[in-house]
Amino acid sequence: MNKPPHVYLVGAGPGDPELLTVKASRLLREADVVVYDRLVSAEILTMIPSGTAKFYVGKAAGHHHMTQDEINALLVQLARAGKTRIVRLKGGDPLIFDRGSEEARYLHEQGIPFSIVPGITSASACTTYAGIPLTHRGLARSVRMVTGHCQKNRPLDLNWNSLADPDTTLVVYMGLGHLQEIATRLQHAGLSGGTPAAIIENGTHSDQRRCLTTLAQLPEQARVQVFTTPSLIVIGRVVALAKELEWRQTSDHEQAFAEILGQSIQAEA
Ligand SMILES: C[S@@+](CC[C@H](N)C(=O)[O-])C[C@H]1O[C@@H](n2cnc3c(N)ncnc32)[C@H](O)[C@@H]1O
Repeated sequence: MNKPPHVYLVGAGPGDPELLTVKASRLLREADVVVYDRLVSAEILTMIPSGTAKFYVGKAAGHHHMTQDEINALLVQLARAGKTRIVRLKGGDPLIFDRGSEEARYLHEQGIPFSIVPGITSASACTTYAGIPLTHRGLARSVRMVTGHCQKNRPLDLNWNSLADPDTTLVVYMGLGHLQEIATRLQHAGLSGGTPAAIIENGTHSDQRRCLTTLAQLPEQARVQVFTTPSLIVIGRVVALAKELEWRQTSDHEQAFAEILGQSIQAEA
């Protein structure tokens, strides 16, 4: 009997291929076809076997390779064409500031079976790789994740009074284009301009960049240091720990040291 089609909505994490879950890497190896987004890293794409069909359906701000309706239709079309293991691969977690739940609803409506595989969301991984704990006793009791994306030429529709909480770590996805508005509105709502803040670009990738600054300085620093997408904005007292908790550079040094050590051992042998 023929196997029925199945769509796997899979989170690829924020970039470092070693942050892919064991389940996600197994599904990538076993897939008939992979439909993937712009934020899936090049290293992860190389893990897909060369014979597997791949479809790029990426969306960048203001430039959609495919509309959401077209992506939904493609998934259903692949399932009806008899593909049994269709992997829909998304950056980070498929259900956090992504359209994973919309795609799942559409598949449900069309009677196509699906599974959802969580991935590490950028708020968690990028902060960790930048040495920023999301919570820390005495500094942050809660975390808020918000989107800084809104319809063109519209102000951001966020509850600034509730977000301007010094005991909370605020993580803004897709916020780079609205940094001035975010910084100004939070300060007007009472959050100090001196609150530590960070921008993390290409978090967990080998070319990750991090800027440590303050809420008041965020927009200028983003401009002067030319930060680009994907970037995550983190605002809160925990950012002040980033210098002490920076581990990535240390481990890069350790890696270089281990390589030098390996070479000298080989040379001696
Ligand atoms: C459409 S949202 C997708 C979020 C994704 N589903 C997740 O769970 O991380 C895209 C935004 O996530 C953030 N982002 C994703 N990957 C990132 C990375 N490697 N470094 C920095 N920010 C990242 C950026 O704010 C980017 O604009």
